Amino acid sequence: MADDHKSGGQVSRDQLIDLLNEDLAREYQAIIAYVVYSQVLKGAEYMTIAKELEKHAGEELAHALTISKLIDYLGGSPTVTAKPVKTSEKAEDMLRFDLDNENDTIRNYRDRVRQCEVLGEFAMAEHLREILKQEQEHQIDLATALGEEVPDVSKMKADKGKGQAEERAIH
Ligand SMILES: [Fe+2]
Ligand SMILES: [Fe+2]
Repeated sequence: MADDHKSGGQVSRDQLIDLLNEDLAREYQAIIAYVVYSQVLKGAEYMTIAKELEKHAGEELAHALTISKLIDYLGGSPTVTAKPVKTSEKAEDMLRFDLDNENDTIRNYRDRVRQCEVLGEFAMAEHLREILKQEQEHQIDLATALGEEVPDVSKMKADKGKGQAEERAIH
């Protein structure tokens, strides 16, 4: 898929279905990560964020249901496959993985809102905006727990591997 599709340019309805399925796979990834990390985070200093992560898990499930509904509405089949979830024994690593994923998710939903609007799908764009608001809250929770500034995802590269050095350079 060409780059302009990924940066929020014009897409067909079929391409939108594919992109929403990637969003859905990211929501499943988030559900799994938050379910597991919220239960295995240890240490008094992480108890508050562990409770937050548990709340995020429920919100990600609601997002997955909304995205599935949108895919079905467009005549597509919602995916059954999650993006891979990283594991680590270290609390800071877990929070870092979550923050990286939220950054990626936010970047994608910003594109998706624009793509829906270009197609005249204003109600869909509204649903995605509601999700985006919660993703930004997740991002703030994680950045705060890591003692960092909230990253500016508009300045990050789409490629996550390459983008991480820039993300780290912010603080
Ligand atoms: Fe989500
Ligand atoms: Fe999230």
